Amino acid sequence: MDSFEINKLIGGLLGTVFVVFSVGIVSDALFASPASEKPGFAIEATEEPAEGGPAAPAAEAKPIADLLANANVEAGAAVFKKCQACHSGEKGGPNKVGPDLWDVVDRPVASHEGFAYSAGMKEYSKAGAEKWTYENLDHFLLSPKKDVKGTAMGFAGLPKDEDRANVIAYLRTLSDNPKPLPTPGASAAAPAEGAAPAKPAEGAAPAPAQ
Ligand code: HEC
Repeated sequence: MDSFEINKLIGGLLGTVFVVFSVGIVSDALFASPASEKPGFAIEATEEPAEGGPAAPAAEAKPIADLLANANVEAGAAVFKKCQACHSGEKGGPNKVGPDLWDVVDRPVASHEGFAYSAGMKEYSKAGAEKWTYENLDHFLLSPKKDVKGTAMGFAGLPKDEDRANVIAYLRTLSDNPKPLPTPGASAAAPAEGAAPAKPAEGAAPAPAQ
C-alpha cells in the first residue's frame, strides 16, 4: 500500500515536471521569435547607408570625356540591347516606341522626323537649340525622368558609369561620320559647344575654368 502511494506521488511529480518543461519549451519558442526580430532591424539599418551610397558617387560624377576614353564599343552594343526594345539604331530605321537613334550624337534634341516627342522633351530641346552632346546623353541616360521632366522614355536609366560610357561610345558609331571623341581632362565648358569638341583640345586649355 505504502509503496503504491509513493509510486502515485512520484508519478504525479514526474507529470508536473513534464508539464513545466513543456511550458518552458513552448515559452522559449515564443520568446525566441521576438529575439530574432532584432537582426531584422539591423538589416533595415544597413539599407539606409546603402541608399546613401549611390548618392555619394553621383555627387562626384566623372566627366563623360574621361569615361569615354576607356569605353568599350562592344560592351556598349550589349547594353544597347536594352534600348532596342524601343529604339532602332539603323540608318533610316523606323521609329518604334522611341525615335530611331542613328546619328544621334550631336543631333538636335527631339528632331527625328515623324516622331511625336513629349512636351517635356520638346521643352528640353529649347526649340532645336539643344543637341545630344556627349554630356547631355550622359546626364539623360543616368536618369531620364530626372534629367528631362515629363519625358515619355519609360526607362529607369543606367546608374553605372561604364554602362553609360560604353553605350554612348556605341551610339557614336551609329553614324557615317562618327563625331570626334571629347578630350579627356577638358572642363565641362568645352562640350557645351557640342558640334566641335575637338577644337579646344590643346590651345584653349579650358581646364582652369573649373
Ligand atoms: C521603354 C522604351 C524605351 C527604352 C527601353 C529606351 N528608350 Fe530612349 N526613348 C524612348 C522614348 C519614348 C523616347 C522619346 C521621349 C520623349 O519624347 O520624351 C526616347 C528618347 C530617347 C532619346 C532622345 C532622342 C531624340 O531624338 O531626341 C535618346 C538619345 C534615347 N532615347 C536613348 C536611349 C538609350 C541609349 C536607351 C538604352 C540605354 C534607351 N533610350 C532606352 C523610349 C525608350
